[in-house]
Amino acid sequence: MQCIETIAEFRAARRKIPYLGLVPTMGFLHDGHLSLVKRAKAECGAVAVTIFVNPMQFGAQEDLERYPRDMPRDLALLDDAGVDLVFAPTPAIIYQAGFATRIDVGAIGTVLEGASRPGHFAGVATVLMKLLNIVQPDRAYYGQKDGQQCAVIRQLMRDLDSPVDMIVAETVRAADGLALSSRNVYLSDAEREAAPVLYRALQAAQTMFDQGERSAESLRAVMRAVIAGEPLAMLDYVSVADFDDLSECDRIEEPAMASIALYLGQTRLIDNLVLNAE
Ligand code: PAJ
Repeated sequence: MQCIETIAEFRAARRKIPYLGLVPTMGFLHDGHLSLVKRAKAECGAVAVTIFVNPMQFGAQEDLERYPRDMPRDLALLDDAGVDLVFAPTPAIIYQAGFATRIDVGAIGTVLEGASRPGHFAGVATVLMKLLNIVQPDRAYYGQKDGQQCAVIRQLMRDLDSPVDMIVAETVRAADGLALSSRNVYLSDAEREAAPVLYRALQAAQTMFDQGERSAESLRAVMRAVIAGEPLAMLDYVSVADFDDLSECDRIEEPAMASIALYLGQTRLIDNLVLNAE
């Protein structure tokens, strides 16, 4: 495995690989990230991973400074997983003096996470286009865990005619249902114990949907009720939205995404399930 910091060196190494999968990450890797890496390796033969905590997607009041980092551990995990190339640039390499371009993803970036985190998806879209242009993979792998991010990237790839195939993999969860996330380390013991309420609420909505309920508001109501039963949880939003454009549903006729954001103490957690009748 080669770990590379500069764009020129990375390009030189990349040119020797005929077919390449990419997993973009912000590091502090867990089994969710590693499931993407293993799938990419199996499907593409060679896999590159980027590790870059992207300042542009963090708001001024967010956790950029204290976002967890452990490069030696990440590199050991990636080496074990059979990764070929790691690109781990500094912010100065990605955002050179005079950098001014921002990709505006429109309405899809202003709802849900975008409403609570203005500018977040412009930051994600901009860094992703840069990483895709640097790495030039044949395929890129993302997790459904960040469901709105997937919808934004799907639109971005379509709107900007990206040649990179986009693969979305299922969310990896702990045994109690909590979706794995680098931010779970922020949780106190009591908060960690309360955290599966997120998945329980989503499952309650999924069960009603599977039994034939098609009123989005009924599903939102059941999710709110489950969350209300957990005193440590402070709800940010519940949503049942169109899978493609994330506009809120009235009746669910097409694939939809049920999603929740809540706070446990200072820590914001998100999760989602796809509702699909077929
Ligand atoms: P990060 O949060 O590190 O996540 C990297 C990738 O791993 C994303 O595609 C994310 O959806 C996926 N992932 C995270 N937790 C997962 C889980 N429990 N199961 C399956 N997949 C999971 O998302 C980002 O970084 C950044 O926004 C990035 C796309 C790298 C742009 O900076």
